[in-house]
Amino acid sequence: MKNLLEKIDYSKIPHHVAIIMDGNGRWAEKRGKLRTFGHEQAMISIIDSLNACKELGIPYITLYVFSSENWSRPKQEVENLLNLFHKNLKKYLEVIHRKNLRIISIGCMEKFSDFLQKVLCFFIKKTKHNSSGTLVLALNYGSREEIIRATKNIAKKVCQGVIPLEDINDSFFQDHLYTKNLPDVDLVIRTSGEKRISNFLLWQSAYAELYFTNILWPDFRKKDFFKAIINYQKRKRRFGNIH
Ligand code: IPE
Ligand code: IPE
Ligand code: MG
Repeated sequence: MKNLLEKIDYSKIPHHVAIIMDGNGRWAEKRGKLRTFGHEQAMISIIDSLNACKELGIPYITLYVFSSENWSRPKQEVENLLNLFHKNLKKYLEVIHRKNLRIISIGCMEKFSDFLQKVLCFFIKKTKHNSSGTLVLALNYGSREEIIRATKNIAKKVCQGVIPLEDINDSFFQDHLYTKNLPDVDLVIRTSGEKRISNFLLWQSAYAELYFTNILWPDFRKKDFFKAIINYQKRKRRFGNIH
């Protein structure tokens, strides 16, 4: 671990890291267990990643917890996931609060139970002034839904004459996304060997670096997070320019 830390360039720390935490089900199945067992283990990897962020001074981390497409899974799997959220949300949000992290959420929360919504709102308020970093939880999140929602809101304002068409630009559009006030994503990490984005932060990661690892999410540890950062720091980000 010490060796890895020595390779980190503290002048090139990403501002915003987003993680597609994939592979829980396969991790459990490989061990002859139910998929839920893999979901239960996910928290250890989350805490490790948050600790890594804190050590490196990464101010924003977004975690893909549940996608808008995950509702299409078998009923039992969705129920198991929701039960797990119910059982653990309070406990883990408290742990995150004690790490002095500000919690916010992106996604369409209305589809979750009143209890889940209340617990989340409570912690969003409670952690509002925490200053060690921001943890963004993507819950029932899908980029296409987010973009359509923003477009409808903007279209309404134009139709009602609140704004002229010419006012619509990058930053105006960004202000209508769930991620308004959040910086663009610098690095997307996806575990489990899949090399796709799965409807995650399409707008926000327009110029993000992508890092894929075969490690299944429940096995992902702090050292793996550091490896992703070291890899990121070797990239040449050009943003359309030539140097
Ligand atoms: C990620 O693990 C967790 C969620 C999407 C909720 P998966 O459940 O997708 O696990 P695999 O990809 O099937 O192994
Ligand atoms: C992406 O993983 C969503 C989350 C990690 C919450 P999925 O397992 O749902 O993605 P696909 O179906 O393999 O693209
Ligand atoms: Mg998956």
